Amino acid sequence: MQERVRVLLSEEEVDTRIREIGEQISRDYAGKSIHLVCVLKGGSFFMCELAKRISVPVSLDFMSVSSYGSDTKSSGVVKIVKDLDEPLQGKDVLVVEDIVDSGRTLSYLMEMLQDRGPASLRLCTLLDKPDRRVIDVKVDYTGFQIPDEFVVGYGLDYDQMYRNLPYIGVVEK
Ligand code: IMP
Ligand code: MG
Repeated sequence: MQERVRVLLSEEEVDTRIREIGEQISRDYAGKSIHLVCVLKGGSFFMCELAKRISVPVSLDFMSVSSYGSDTKSSGVVKIVKDLDEPLQGKDVLVVEDIVDSGRTLSYLMEMLQDRGPASLRLCTLLDKPDRRVIDVKVDYTGFQIPDEFVVGYGLDYDQMYRNLPYIGVVEK
């Protein structure tokens, strides 16, 4: 079955916003270097674009997590599928995510990363669906707040497809 995808945020809007966030992060971290932690797979497109717009020194690492529980509802207990290659001790860490939905995954993940002793730990997400929040999670940088609709593109998938769309779209079945 082929779904229709309606454009919610155009390529230009997303690119412009990522430049703005990159500039803001560069100002906030002036004189420091940033260790970006990408949550695979969804965060990868956003992280690459964001990293290019940050003007302070940047290092990168990747992790992959899966949530226990049903496909439609994350339980908040996170299994590490691929852990980071580098320790976080003493680093200024910025976690880069595609979307914060219920907040279950991120609140668990942020607590776990905090225990690894970073100098600082912040969260940057391209999209935020505040209406869906079940667990409070502090987001330091947000690209866009969006309504409660299922979105794809820019790393976000529907059944592993559509991650490569250069814009954010809503799947219409
Ligand atoms: P939560 O915040 O723990 O509920 O889970 C967030 C994760 O659910 C994200 O990292 C995405 O992988 C996935 N997700 C939530 N909303 C969407 C959406 O609209 N499209 C695609 N994936 C989504
Ligand atoms: Mg994700």
